[in-house]
Amino acid sequence: MLITFEGIDGSGKSTQARRLYEHLKNMGYKVSLYRDPGSTPLAEKIRELVLDFETDPTTELLLFETARSSLVWERVFPDLKEGKIVIIDRFIDSTVAYQGYGREINLGTVNILNHIAIRGRKPDITFLLNVPIEIAFQRLGSKKTRFEDKSYLRRVRDAYILIAHQEKERIVLIDATKSEEEVFSEIIKHLRERFQISL
Ligand code: TYD
Repeated sequence: MLITFEGIDGSGKSTQARRLYEHLKNMGYKVSLYRDPGSTPLAEKIRELVLDFETDPTTELLLFETARSSLVWERVFPDLKEGKIVIIDRFIDSTVAYQGYGREINLGTVNILNHIAIRGRKPDITFLLNVPIEIAFQRLGSKKTRFEDKSYLRRVRDAYILIAHQEKERIVLIDATKSEEEVFSEIIKHLRERFQISL
C-alpha cells in the first residue's frame, strides 16, 4: 500500500507521517517512510539544489520530477514488491499545487511529468492536512524557506483543496487545525475504514 501526506509547509504533515510510520512499525507491519524530494542519494542531492537555487518554474518542475523518479524506482517499487507499506511525505499533489497552481505551469504538462515519474503508480490514499495559512505561518515561526511567500502559499493551499475535491476517492481532507492527537486518530480511523486493516 502506498500512503502519501500532503499539505502546505507548517500543516504538520511530516509529524503525522512519522507518527503513522512508528505506529505501523510497532504493530508489526513492514513499513518504510520517505520524503519527496529525497530519500535516495541522487534525490537528496537534487533536494539541496532545488532548495538552494532560485530557478525558472520549468527547471524547478523537472528537478522535482527527476528526484521523484529516482525515489519511485529505487525505493518505492522494490518496497511495494516486498509487500511493505510505503509512506511518503509529499508526492505528486505537491507538484500540481506548487508548480502547477503556484508557479502557474500548464497543468497538462505537470500531470504528464508526474505520470512519467511515478510510472502511473498513484498513491492508494493521500492525507491532505488542511490549515489556514495564518496558522501555518505561526507554526513555522522563523523556519521559513523560499517557498513560503504568503500569496504564493495561499494559491497553493487553495489548489490543494481543489485537487482534493477532484479526487475524492483517493484524497482525504483533514482539518489540521485540530490537535496532533486528534489529527492522528482521524488518519487511523480512515485507514481502518478504507482498507479494513487492524490498527
Ligand atoms: P518539505 O519536504 O515539506 O520541506 P520542509 O520539511 O523543509 O518544510 O518540502 C520542501 C519544499 O519543496 C516545500 O516548500 C514544497 C516544495 N515542493 C514543491 O514545490 N514541489 C514538489 O513537487 C515537492 C515535492 C515539494
